[in-house]
Amino acid sequence: MKPPGTAGGATEATEAPAVTGAPGAAGVPVPDAVACSALEYAFGTTKAVDGLDLSVVPGEVFGLLGPNGAGKTTAIRCITTLLSVPAGMVRVFGHDVARERMAVRRLLGYVPQQLSADAGLTGRENVALFARVFDVSRRERAERVAQALDAVGLTDAADRLGKTYSGGMVRRLELAQALVSAPRLLILDEPTIGLDPIARTSVWEHINAVRSATGMTVLVTTHYMDEADQYCDRVALMHRGRIHALGTPQELRDDLRERRRREPGGSDAATTLEDVFRDVAGSGLDDQGGDFRDVRSTRRTASRVG
Ligand SMILES: Nc1ncnc2c1ncn2[C@@H]1O[C@H](COP(=O)(O)OP(=O)(O)OP(=O)(O)O)[C@@H](O)[C@H]1O
Ligand SMILES: [Mg+2]
Repeated sequence: MKPPGTAGGATEATEAPAVTGAPGAAGVPVPDAVACSALEYAFGTTKAVDGLDLSVVPGEVFGLLGPNGAGKTTAIRCITTLLSVPAGMVRVFGHDVARERMAVRRLLGYVPQQLSADAGLTGRENVALFARVFDVSRRERAERVAQALDAVGLTDAADRLGKTYSGGMVRRLELAQALVSAPRLLILDEPTIGLDPIARTSVWEHINAVRSATGMTVLVTTHYMDEADQYCDRVALMHRGRIHALGTPQELRDDLRERRRREPGGSDAATTLEDVFRDVAGSGLDDQGGDFRDVRSTRRTASRVG
């Protein structure tokens, strides 16, 4: 499913909720699921996020890609309210993360990059813990925990200790933890790292099944370009704290192919998302400044001029 209005761009940093999305069913504009505008975050003298503009459309699967140290996890921790927002603006479904922290937390589920399940608890106990933390009412809790475990295929293993789970099962357990509060926005930081190809597919199938059932928005980081190509509606390439390319995987692939074709002695060979990644991460683009590229608009311009 491709979302409407997929062009990127930050929302205005105003007091009112950001309403830059496409009109909803009643003609009322729907706020972006995530809107970052000129976000900055530094650890001492290290600028981890350096002027990040990002908008995630409700209902899409958005991939935040980039090399190690690009600032993806830091940006995500700002979006999830785990880090403060020292400069710039971040909104989740129109709520300012700096001022409406609890409202934002109620809307999202988060699978962090570092493993978060407790090996000394059973699968069910781990998910129940998250249900309590995320304010799922006591009355609903047991059923919602069972549903979340079922959604990730862990019903049979639910009463085994976490330490007996395989890597793929642990990642699915963490997915269940994030899903138990029925989030409108699921944020996954490297959800499939270290998993075998079958376990990776399984994680994605479970995510997609929940999406189809609920219309949940997904923001994901991954270093697996094949996954991003297959499962993400749009991707952004982040490097040294900001976005350098944005579009659907196909737009990004086609854009690189077109640029290579136009080079003197250029080649028309098919390009992969991995080629796009190398092009952005290996090009030193950030040294030139002001290089944000929305591939959709670049391609429109290219077709106009030639
Ligand atoms: N807690 C911290 N203290 C100091 N520096 C940090 C901390 N966390 C991240 N950094 C630095 O901030 C920068 C961005 O790191 P971040 O973890 O956000 O990158 P990333 O894109 O998630 O990388 P990876 O793909 O390896 O997960 C890096 O230079 C990193 O060393
Ligand atoms: Mg990271």
